[in-house]
Amino acid sequence: MKSKRNIPFFNYPALFKTQEKEIIDTLHDVMSRGAYILQRDLEEFEENIKELIGVKHVLGVADGTNALILALRAADIGPGDEVIMSSHTYIATAASAHFVGAKPVLVECGADHMIDPESVEKAITDKTRVIMPTQLNGRTCDMDALQAIADKYGLIIIEDAAQALSSNFNGKCAGTFGLAGTFSFYPAKVLGCFGDGGAVVTNDDEMARKLYLLRDHGRNDEGEVVTWGTNSRLDNIQAAILNVKLKTFKKDMEWRREIASMYDQALRDIDDLILSPAPDEDEKHYDVYQNYELESGHRDELKSFLAERGVGTIIQWGGKAVHQFKELGFDDVCLPVVEKMTSRFLMLPMHTALTDEDVGYVCDCIKDFYRR
Ligand SMILES: Cc1ncc(COP(=O)(O)O)c(C=O)c1O
Repeated sequence: MKSKRNIPFFNYPALFKTQEKEIIDTLHDVMSRGAYILQRDLEEFEENIKELIGVKHVLGVADGTNALILALRAADIGPGDEVIMSSHTYIATAASAHFVGAKPVLVECGADHMIDPESVEKAITDKTRVIMPTQLNGRTCDMDALQAIADKYGLIIIEDAAQALSSNFNGKCAGTFGLAGTFSFYPAKVLGCFGDGGAVVTNDDEMARKLYLLRDHGRNDEGEVVTWGTNSRLDNIQAAILNVKLKTFKKDMEWRREIASMYDQALRDIDDLILSPAPDEDEKHYDVYQNYELESGHRDELKSFLAERGVGTIIQWGGKAVHQFKELGFDDVCLPVVEKMTSRFLMLPMHTALTDEDVGYVCDCIKDFYRR
């Protein structure tokens, strides 16, 4: 029997070690300058993201949830409006619609776990204003199909790209297709800060103007309050940390893709598993593997088996689609495809401090499980 290893699902301390000196120096520099709110590190960060994903405006905000709420508000979405989204998303996507007074309308996802365009089209009513695809697990949806529906019915697209910074579809990055896109820099995200953080991006000048006001209490450059707004600014110190992390970001995404390839090659012959799409599955997608989410017909036993062998796994969002949270009032929503999947989803360790040996060990344990 091979010796047991400890492979936590995520490993913040190991990741910190990889850039420890540079990050401590950066914190020292920011604190020595007393540069905390709306300072040059944030501006640099916003420029860096513009360049990374090819978009005209980037605004660092408090977190990914606020990014969604601000984007909806800037697009004038509110009471009486409906926002269509996949039920296999984080509660934040639906909560953002709820918080602006609109109705989140939940639909099915397809085989790659992304929103199902057919299901979107069926859910359209005369109140529908927005399609809000979640760019899930570091993958960008088939945006051609969604854009065609949006054009046909005169809807806007606001992308929840919290999990998908720099992933792309046909060379265009997640977050840049719709009227606005939103990102989260929660610590475990592909680009994660040391706390909460987020951004809204847009190519639309009027949206950008409104977003600048909304994130800083409606104040213009002269400090004059010209509309109602809120306090939702990305901390300068978090932006400075993210600037350090961006230096290795592209290389880090390549390593995530490499890990996904290793999982794919080692596990593709196990009939019970449905794997994440492989990095080389088609030329249209460039996935950055925020998560490696597979499906297993023996999910709970597999999870326990791996835990006994020191391998941490997670069931995304506790194994519930948004409409399955009883207290939220979606009693009349029935989504058989998503419901079947939520009992099968499992995420394997996926982060840049994993080594080849770690990944090999995880795969060996999974193979042992299916050999029994
Ligand atoms: C798909 C999705 N949407 C929205 C969010 C919300 O981001 P945050 O936690 O930064 O508010 C997350 C973060 O977990 C997410 O995964």
